[in-house]
Amino acid sequence: MTNQATFESKSKPKPSTSQLRCIGCGTVGGRPTQNLRCSACGDLLEVIYSGWNTGDGIRAAGLDAAGLKSMWRERRTSRLAMDQSGVWRFREVLPALAEGTEPITLREGNTPLYALPSCAGSAGVQHLYAKHQGMNPTGSFKDTGMTVAASFARQQGFRWVACASTGNTSASMAAYASRGGMRSLVLIPDGQISWSKLAQSLDYGAVTCQLKTDFDGCMRVLNEVVQRMPVYLLNSVNPYRLEGQKTLALELMEQFDWKVPDHVIVPGGNLANSSAIGKAFLEMKELGLICNLPKISIIQAEGANPLVRTVRETGGKTLVPVHAETYATAIRIGNPASWKKALRVLQETSGTVEQVSEVEIALAKAEIGAEGIGCEPASAVTLAGLKKLVKQGFVKSQEAIVLVLTGHLLKDPDFTLKFHRGDLFAGTAYEKESRVLAPQQRAPLVLEPTADAVVRVLEKAGS
Ligand code: F0G
Repeated sequence: MTNQATFESKSKPKPSTSQLRCIGCGTVGGRPTQNLRCSACGDLLEVIYSGWNTGDGIRAAGLDAAGLKSMWRERRTSRLAMDQSGVWRFREVLPALAEGTEPITLREGNTPLYALPSCAGSAGVQHLYAKHQGMNPTGSFKDTGMTVAASFARQQGFRWVACASTGNTSASMAAYASRGGMRSLVLIPDGQISWSKLAQSLDYGAVTCQLKTDFDGCMRVLNEVVQRMPVYLLNSVNPYRLEGQKTLALELMEQFDWKVPDHVIVPGGNLANSSAIGKAFLEMKELGLICNLPKISIIQAEGANPLVRTVRETGGKTLVPVHAETYATAIRIGNPASWKKALRVLQETSGTVEQVSEVEIALAKAEIGAEGIGCEPASAVTLAGLKKLVKQGFVKSQEAIVLVLTGHLLKDPDFTLKFHRGDLFAGTAYEKESRVLAPQQRAPLVLEPTADAVVRVLEKAGS
């Protein structure tokens, strides 16, 4: 028996009791519709845990903040699959699976926190970090949510799961469905997602349909499909996905030894991830795991900026949907489902929203790559946004900032190759503006196969 197993059997923590609550009308415990909305008012659902704010929940289970922190730390040395998962390691703050049920896990989470000294310099700050969710099993943050929601789908007896996607959700869902013995249906916008993500969904065994529409169109079709067929919806309207995605924040706090950074900056697409991260910080405060909150800010691409417009044009009262266009295809979303949840996070953490241009995204992505880290374009909006927030004085140079990098560099090699070859903006409206990118571009060199040719290159490159 490992030390861990001994520890577990001594403390016997009980799972938290969770329920679904509608974020609109507040109904608790209602039966969700097929598209996972409130059957009374149609708004989104969220998972709530009884007794946390009164202390009866976690404390009744024999745990306090210090107990939780040390138990989560000790699980890292365990050989149990549940403990090796960077998500289920935090299971006391997640909805509980039925007794004896194993989760579907690919050992997701446990992602690195990197210092970004060069990017810090270019943004004008001193303490900049990246929490790299691209280091998950399928290369994006989606895995942390998928392990939870796919496990609940299987527990409820579903044979089929489905999602509409800009590519990462579908890759992740396909992998977890196959691992869990379920079939999966993927709806993606034809020609608008990267080949790597499409390849993943095919290889992991999904039935993959490229629809001649955009992401928002795929979502509309899927909402109808789930009404007509017994398939379980795994888009981020699924509240269990957000519970898994919360663990990014718990892990981040462990990595910071529970000292809260001043800012967490997140890309915004369908707006679920920012909502999940915000929920995690609010819950951690409620449980006494942390004493203060970071400001959580959301960055969108200028061409896919419905949240920015919603805040600026309506003060957050009504969603301003847009027709989305950006090379950062992962966040090419004009009608984000979780906008109300994200707004609540902005309000409760005093965060802000900002938008960045295509050229700013490309530059930031190259700068993150040049630190030996890399990410996909959608993740790079965080650094591009940070630069603007520093200029505006919203972020101060001595503050600690965490960028959430959501996807791996290899998720979109086309973008990167075009960037370095100088083709990305050729013939587009951004061509002139994109000249600033030249110092970052490193096109591959085609040479005669001689040492002389290579040596000349080295000599030219200098020291
Ligand atoms: N970054 C990446 C790499 C993404 O794939 C996504 C969303 C986001 C950021 C935005 O996260 O939607 O929670 O605000 N991708 C979804 C997908 C929509 O289908 O893969 P969000």
